[in-house]
Amino acid sequence: MKHLLKLLDLTGEEIIEILNLADQLKYEQKHGIEHKHLKGKTLGMIFQKASTRTRVSFEVGMYQLGGYPLFLSANDMQIGRGEPVQDTARVLSRFLDGIMIRTFEQQEVEDLAKYGSIPIINGLTDFCHPCQVLADLMTIREVKGQLEGLKMCFIGDGNNMMNSLIVGALKTGMSMSVACPEGYDPEQSILDFTKEYGDKFTLYRSPMEAARNADVILTDVWASMGQEDEAKLRQKAFEGYQINTQLMAQAKEDAMVLHCLPAHRGEEITADVFEAHATEIFEEAENRLHAQKAVLVKTMA
Ligand code: CP
Ligand code: NVA
Repeated sequence: MKHLLKLLDLTGEEIIEILNLADQLKYEQKHGIEHKHLKGKTLGMIFQKASTRTRVSFEVGMYQLGGYPLFLSANDMQIGRGEPVQDTARVLSRFLDGIMIRTFEQQEVEDLAKYGSIPIINGLTDFCHPCQVLADLMTIREVKGQLEGLKMCFIGDGNNMMNSLIVGALKTGMSMSVACPEGYDPEQSILDFTKEYGDKFTLYRSPMEAARNADVILTDVWASMGQEDEAKLRQKAFEGYQINTQLMAQAKEDAMVLHCLPAHRGEEITADVFEAHATEIFEEAENRLHAQKAVLVKTMA
């Protein structure tokens, strides 16, 4: 695998291979088995947006793999002052062995890959969040023992998380239902992608209908990073699009709940549902580490 720019670029088999390696690395780490596959390699981590999980899990992951992580805040780099991505890509390719980038435009990530000569990993854009969804799939498989045939349901904004979950779920044999208010649908390119999967994908306006018989329910914040100005407007638009006990009653009795975090209790999820599923949600957070180490090994080793 050359890069991880978006899940649309991977086959279902490639996704499963990453999950298998992630499981193996998790086992090795838990049993004190060293796996320094990236000895002497350096990963630059460019952040144009805030992060807790992505930054720490990539940094710790590189350390555990024997490599060196370099935190690069875009605010302190020339890219933040308008240096073209084409130049940044060519310069950093001469110093580093890989780049993880969190930014706004998906095009910036694609351009880094186009103009640079080292692996590029997408740590979240407005369009997608592939690393998070790999961790989500890993967690579902751990709990349920399989992905194939399960029903995933996402309630909320047609944002980076919804876009990536749709692709990840369908490519690994799950069916997918989403519920979002009008005007907040997933990207058109994602809706086009779902056409290959027929009735395995359904977009609902009613959260209750979308959640029916689901094995896994997910949500995410109503206002993503960069949309802070729209927070009030979005609170109105997403009224009713909440994971609460009534909604959970529609899903299977043993349904999981996942959340990429940070969570806004009382908005997209109630505190009681969040706490009832805290074990799964924090395992999901931990799995960021293992899934990303698998991506680092696949792209950089
Ligand atoms: N879920 C996630 O990507 O978290 P951070 O924004 O803290 O990295
Ligand atoms: N949709 C959220 C995800 C955060 C991990 C955002 O982009 O802010």
